[in-house]
Amino acid sequence: MGVMRIDKMLANCGVGSRRDVKELIKFGRVSIDDKKVNKSDIKVDTDKNKIYVDGKEVFYKKYIYLLMNKPSGVISATEDGREKTVIDILPEKYHKFNLFPVGRLDKDTVGLLILTNNGDFAHNTLSPKKHVFKRYFATVSGVIDKNDIKAFFDGIIFDNGEVCKSARLKVCKIKSNCTDVFVEISEGKFHQIKKMFNVIGKKVLFLKRVKFGGLELDEKLMEGEVRELSEYEVNKVFNEN
Ligand code: URA
Repeated sequence: MGVMRIDKMLANCGVGSRRDVKELIKFGRVSIDDKKVNKSDIKVDTDKNKIYVDGKEVFYKKYIYLLMNKPSGVISATEDGREKTVIDILPEKYHKFNLFPVGRLDKDTVGLLILTNNGDFAHNTLSPKKHVFKRYFATVSGVIDKNDIKAFFDGIIFDNGEVCKSARLKVCKIKSNCTDVFVEISEGKFHQIKKMFNVIGKKVLFLKRVKFGGLELDEKLMEGEVRELSEYEVNKVFNEN
């Protein structure tokens, strides 16, 4: 990733804040290749130099990506005066990365949420031009029939005249007074899925995002848990097959 200050590099890697890192350097705990460093403004080439803290190599990563199984009751924001956010529930070790959620899930929606510090990634996945489909599992009131599937396919029109892009609606199970479905949309209008069902006279009773582009929710993650995504998994977002 090129040349940068050692304190910035270590702070970006999550070793600590810039101030923590300066202390580590001051106490001789940081080395570049086999030499101890004593100044925070020394430049390192992250492609060529090996950097160690307390003898342990630190690998440079500009961005990090977390997969969260979002629980109900927390909001998709970085901070909020009143409500608990998805950032508030992250393990302490991730707090120094300036992470933010990629798009929003409603407070009562659960499931796949990516958190990153890469603004370009977030922008690209959310841009309707990129056609990244997001799949949701939903339980909705009443019975979904083929007219509803066609209405979603043709593009739902909200009361204010706003037209949604074609969406895929698939019935999983018809129950006595509700239906389990999968819905796939490639845009992210405010409360989009709830509003789309509203137009066809149905209410969303439960909503869970299960897929984001080609990346599926890791069902081993309990609600509220996160894990880091590998580069391969991050790339899957843009590759649906
Ligand atoms: N659509 C909604 O209505 N809510 C969500 O949380 C996500 C998509």
